[in-house]
Amino acid sequence: MKEDSKPKKTNASDHCFREDFKYPTQRNPYHQKLDVFNEFVLKDEEAEVHRGKWSEDVFKNQAPIEVEIGSGYGHFMLDYTEKNPGINFIGLDHRFKRSFHLAEKLAKREHKNFRYLRARGERLGFIFGEEEVSKLYYFFPDPWPKKRHHKKRLFQQTFIKELYKVMKKDGEVLIKTDHDGYYEWMLEELKDNQYFEITFNSQNLREEHPEHFLASFITKFEKIFLNKGIKIKAITLKKK
Ligand SMILES: C[S@@+](CC[C@H](N)C(=O)[O-])C[C@H]1O[C@@H](n2cnc3c(N)ncnc32)[C@H](O)[C@@H]1O
Repeated sequence: MKEDSKPKKTNASDHCFREDFKYPTQRNPYHQKLDVFNEFVLKDEEAEVHRGKWSEDVFKNQAPIEVEIGSGYGHFMLDYTEKNPGINFIGLDHRFKRSFHLAEKLAKREHKNFRYLRARGERLGFIFGEEEVSKLYYFFPDPWPKKRHHKKRLFQQTFIKELYKVMKKDGEVLIKTDHDGYYEWMLEELKDNQYFEITFNSQNLREEHPEHFLASFITKFEKIFLNKGIKIKAITLKKK
């Protein structure tokens, strides 16, 4: 495993990965405004109560659990949950205003085969139990391009280990990014790892693999990057 051969990175966002992490008291008005959507929105630690019990406690069915980190304005979540009524989808993002506006759109949907979490992706292992997640989507994550900020990147060894724990056997992780540096970083973090096998890898998804599932939809940020002529990088992983 890579972590044995590499010195541990100093990580300023380490505290979010720790068991004793508490979301700070929220002064953002959108945090409180989200209360209107209690039926399907869970905030901060509220989501962690259901760890390992999402099917029984929340959805009350045995459909597969699929998770999206960084749902943003929700283009993927809205479209995908509508086309796939037979799944339990959990989208999460840590931005308040974005979460509120997405919740407004989700509220209009009659079939609530989803939950939305105002939460941090670093909490993955506290939100979900072992082998609880069938698929995980991670689209156009913040790349933290400056070298001194790389330690804030979510996709790092601690996260990979948490991801491994929560994914079902044969579970799939699907990633798209515009950013060459973060794409290379993710491949480097996965090098020689014992947890995931890379099952798909393209530096130019739309031209090389127009038939691929990941090329079948365009998220809000993806549209911006495509308009700038940026090539979309895509990776899929299977749990070993
Ligand atoms: C560039 S946007 C992409 C949004 C959407 N996936 C899309 O493709 O349009 C990145 C999103 O990830 C969210 N985000 C960044 N870091 C996060 C973290 N650690 N936990 C949860 N959400 C995060 C941001 O708030 C933002 O909405």
